[in-house]
Amino acid sequence: MARLDVTEHCHNIAFPGHLHTQESLGFAQNFRFQDSDTVIVTYPKSGTTWMQEILTLIHSKGDPTLSQNIPNWSRAPWLEQFYSPEVLGASQSPRIITTHLPYHMLASALKGSKAKIIYVARNPKDVVVSFYYFHKMANFLPDPSSFEEFLDNFLEGTVHYGSWFDHVKGWTSHSNDLNFLYIAYEEMWKDLKGSLERLSSFLQFPLQPDELTNTQRHCSFNSMKENKMVNYTLIPEEIMDHRKGQFMRKGKIGDWKNIFTKQQNSRFEDFFDEEMLNTDLTFIWE
Ligand code: A3P
Repeated sequence: MARLDVTEHCHNIAFPGHLHTQESLGFAQNFRFQDSDTVIVTYPKSGTTWMQEILTLIHSKGDPTLSQNIPNWSRAPWLEQFYSPEVLGASQSPRIITTHLPYHMLASALKGSKAKIIYVARNPKDVVVSFYYFHKMANFLPDPSSFEEFLDNFLEGTVHYGSWFDHVKGWTSHSNDLNFLYIAYEEMWKDLKGSLERLSSFLQFPLQPDELTNTQRHCSFNSMKENKMVNYTLIPEEIMDHRKGQFMRKGKIGDWKNIFTKQQNSRFEDFFDEEMLNTDLTFIWE
């Protein structure tokens, strides 16, 4: 499935045709979740792969065998991507499922479900920067041209996968209707051990101290950067051009300061303040 120049549209949101079809997007929206499922929900570049690694390791009690031998998209498949019916059909519960879809596209499938939803959010200035660099290396995403233009598209919500603002507001405003845990990328970064404890308790997968230490070690940025099952070096050059960048790029908080101009920052902040006016979400920016 190459389709590198194909874009699929669904609910007015663009999705890369390399990974999505109308059928796969329909499959996701009609999916029958099991109560034993754990669903990682993220806007792209918010720490999806990190959470896939963490949950795999928690389920394996810190043993890295699975996370070092099976690619992340096989052990925590994206519900809306074309291969998911096959992968999910073959997987046993408890399943780890990933999605980038906005709440409204999964609302009906999740109605009444007790599946555990883990929403990972990241400060959107770092998201837009990470997404920009990802567009440069991922040949299934449009050429981002300048950062200025990409930032405009991000704020307008016309980038692939839609608006960050709609995504985070849509999911968090329905947290009470779901079995829901909200966690920030920055919280994991600043206190990984505490975050792992919070996650294992939500998942009802208690970890012994040595299991916790092993989990922590194997999901560190440096371990994941070396693990070809998560660093995307398994993906051929014509799909992800590794000469143009690395998937495991920097993994830092506040990298936006290296690219945002003063004007871009004030434009971003005005837009953010207006969009997020009625939420009580707070973000760590640096
Ligand atoms: P950067 O591009 O800022 O480095 P996603 O998996 O949602 O696509 O997110 C990718 C981002 O998460 C990248 O950010 C990547 O480096 C970062 N990341 C992945 N694993 C990480 C880890 N263990 N610790 C910190 N950041 C991590």
